[in-house]
Amino acid sequence: MSPSTGAALRLLAATVDAKAVAEIGTGTGVSGLHLLRGMRPDGVLTTVDPEPEHQQFARQAFRACGFASNRARFIPGRALDVLPRLADAGYDLVFCDGDRLEYLEYLAESLRLLRPGGLVVFEGVFAHGRTIDSGPQPTEVIRIRELLRTVRESQDLLPSLLPVGDGLLCAVKR
Ligand SMILES: C[S@@+](CC[C@H](N)C(=O)[O-])C[C@H]1O[C@@H](n2cnc3c(N)ncnc32)[C@H](O)[C@@H]1O
Repeated sequence: MSPSTGAALRLLAATVDAKAVAEIGTGTGVSGLHLLRGMRPDGVLTTVDPEPEHQQFARQAFRACGFASNRARFIPGRALDVLPRLADAGYDLVFCDGDRLEYLEYLAESLRLLRPGGLVVFEGVFAHGRTIDSGPQPTEVIRIRELLRTVRESQDLLPSLLPVGDGLLCAVKR
């Protein structure tokens, strides 16, 4: 994740005064650290990833950066298995950085998870330039194009595509 993307995530979390953030794709905790820095001091990051080693790495990174263990809830598993168990309208921000093939499904889950005025954010929507490349593209890129179209046409969302890093698609739930 680029430093500019991290700074944007921190800004977005602070802008919605985030107390509850859901993250899809814990990875090594880079995005989680940026989100935690922008959230309220009592905010909790709920982060989902099927790889336990990734979550272990992120847990250590959060601790090393001074975040108390109760600031993050690590849920192992695939997003589409875990998200249905999370509370309706219980989140201020949902950050999607998991499986690109599932981004459209993450959008549907996010609309349920977000409170009105909450933000959904998708990382990597430029797909390293392939999203606007006219040549044949893999399914992953076709799905991202569908996501961009769906978000743009949704009556429930107010979107903006931030040209930071590999493209950060943000949308406020009306
Ligand atoms: C690009 S990395 C995330 C990087 C992370 N946000 C960071 O900044 O360190 C993608 C992550 O999504 C996870 N992932 C893959 N499929 C997933 C799924 N179905 N549900 C949730 N996470 C998934 C991978 O294990 C990987 O850790």
